[in-house]
Amino acid sequence: MSQLSVRSLSKVFERNTPNEKVALDGLSLEVAKGEFITVLGSNGAGKSTLFNAILGKFLPDSGSVFLDGEDITWQKDYRRARSIGCLFQNPLRGTAPNMTIEENLALAYTRTASKSFFAVHKKDSAYFRELLARLNLGLEDRMKTKMGLLSGGQRQAASLVMATVAKPKLLLLDEHTAALDPATSAQVMDTTRRIVADSGLTALMITHDMELALGCGNRTLLMDSGRVVLDVSGAERAALTPQALVELFRARSGHGLSDRTLLS
Ligand SMILES: Nc1ncnc2c1ncn2[C@@H]1O[C@H](COP(=O)(O)OP(=O)(O)OP(=O)(O)O)[C@@H](O)[C@H]1O
Ligand SMILES: [Mg+2]
Repeated sequence: MSQLSVRSLSKVFERNTPNEKVALDGLSLEVAKGEFITVLGSNGAGKSTLFNAILGKFLPDSGSVFLDGEDITWQKDYRRARSIGCLFQNPLRGTAPNMTIEENLALAYTRTASKSFFAVHKKDSAYFRELLARLNLGLEDRMKTKMGLLSGGQRQAASLVMATVAKPKLLLLDEHTAALDPATSAQVMDTTRRIVADSGLTALMITHDMELALGCGNRTLLMDSGRVVLDVSGAERAALTPQALVELFRARSGHGLSDRTLLS
């Protein structure tokens, strides 16, 4: 059984207006437990829309989404949040800047466990400390620091711990290192790889970085016009270079990738 099953999902924005946009066009995708998939595609290909549909930010026009065998197509977004961790490009999104790192972690931990949040328990605090120590950023000694005072990279790393603290069934990363400088981005990516591997998480990561897309995880999808136009894994993927991927994309979609998807 797939951990995530997306079946013929369609979404049209601003239907019957001059701005009508087919964001998802009957997209289907089966993701096995423990798979780490990188997702590439031009601007407007529908990548974030796919994530938003999985997160329940809107209802699809047709199709369905199953998580660990459960049909969640009509489930409220806050209910899904208990089993889906997510992280976005903007390090401000999804954290409470006036609360401490420890409180943010406790909130993420209790919310997913559907307990109520009163105070940080000692036992939990020790667990958070251990998770933060694994980042090698010294954040375990700054648990009482307000989240808003951290640098973008520190905050993304802490947010990654928040998104995974309760071992979600699925982790969605939408260009979560795109706003960081190259060195910090590499550090957060390193942390990402480690957390996903250590917890055996099932993860999807959107990126515009070809090298990263091929060098991270075990499967790569290329999206175009709301569809998956390329799905590679195993030996076929291992043999691909970024250049070959660009050529394949052109062959499948009939056009090139947008400028933002750079060959590094
Ligand atoms: N809430 C919305 N209302 C109207 N149109 C939307 C909405 N969300 C997305 N779209 C449109 O749907 C299409 C797909 O957008 P989406 O954000 O999924 O692209 P993307 O692949 O994530 O692109 P990028 O690489 O730029 O982040 C775009 O044309 C976008 O303008
Ligand atoms: Mg996007």
